Amino acid sequence: MTTDAQILSALRADATGASGAELATRLGISRAAVWARIEELRRVGYEIVAGPHFGYRLVSSPDALHADDLLARLGKTKVIGRDIRVFQETTSTNDIVEKLARDGVKEGAVVFAESQTRGRGRLGRVWMSPPGKGLWFSILLRPNLRPVETTQLTVASATALRRAIRDVTGLALDIKWPNDLLIGGKKVVGVLTEMSAEVDRVRHAILGIGVDVNLSATEFPPDLRKLATSLKVETGEPVSRPELAAAILRELDVDYARICSGKFPEVADEWEAGCATIGRNVSVQIGARKISGRAEALDDDGALLVRTEHGHLERIIGGDVTLEK
Ligand code: BTN
Repeated sequence: MTTDAQILSALRADATGASGAELATRLGISRAAVWARIEELRRVGYEIVAGPHFGYRLVSSPDALHADDLLARLGKTKVIGRDIRVFQETTSTNDIVEKLARDGVKEGAVVFAESQTRGRGRLGRVWMSPPGKGLWFSILLRPNLRPVETTQLTVASATALRRAIRDVTGLALDIKWPNDLLIGGKKVVGVLTEMSAEVDRVRHAILGIGVDVNLSATEFPPDLRKLATSLKVETGEPVSRPELAAAILRELDVDYARICSGKFPEVADEWEAGCATIGRNVSVQIGARKISGRAEALDDDGALLVRTEHGHLERIIGGDVTLEK
């Protein structure tokens, strides 16, 4: 952890405050160096008061994303979030992570951007990513999975995101296959999984996640207003993005560990319990082909099993699902 992350972590751990001398000893730096770092944290928006009896005390944190703050909030994880980078603006965080992957960066690295100029969604769609309003981030993974098994990642990202958002906001979310999260039928989270693979081995996978956090209803383009919503619209109040980001990374770490240790069936059961697609009549557009039928279950690799009107069981690994009435 960086010095700033350690300072924030120590101040968060003790709401009564920590003295400059204590922090200096714990971090192995001088008191003057602690003071200089505190000044810098104040400059970027952390409200830290100082007093002779309590030392330094953290009063409030900005809603902005800072790598050090995210590391401090996250604490120790197995894989996800060991390396966190924040950009003010980028084309797409998936592009940045793709570069990191090619440079040999270890799995678990996470790249956030306050805004994206070319955020992309599934099936070539544009993903709107205005500054400071959402969580736009991508995670580098190097799972020991065959390419057909990467649907497991997609499924696990939905369960993890659903738990984290519920814990922070109290909202109940439905999953739509494979990993859209909906509130009252409107989309609030999207995940774009991209990968580089050989025939029987995944080289790396990139999990690109977009969460509409603090957009107001009018900030969505008119054609999206019936289809999309934000956490702020649903709770009626702004949601702390750094707090939510840390909660999401923590839960993703838990579910990634579950997949890597062969516990995908457990994740799949949780997914099915929260899924609005299973048991419903759906139509699935796969390129030029359209399949209609009843979504019955997930198979062992996370594919959606759809019973068509002709009684065939189709195994869907990609495509655009519409829930029919
Ligand atoms: C979807 O179509 O539902 C997937 C949307 C994924 C958006 C995220 S935002 C962070 C990452 N960077 C991108 O360009 N896309 C993903």
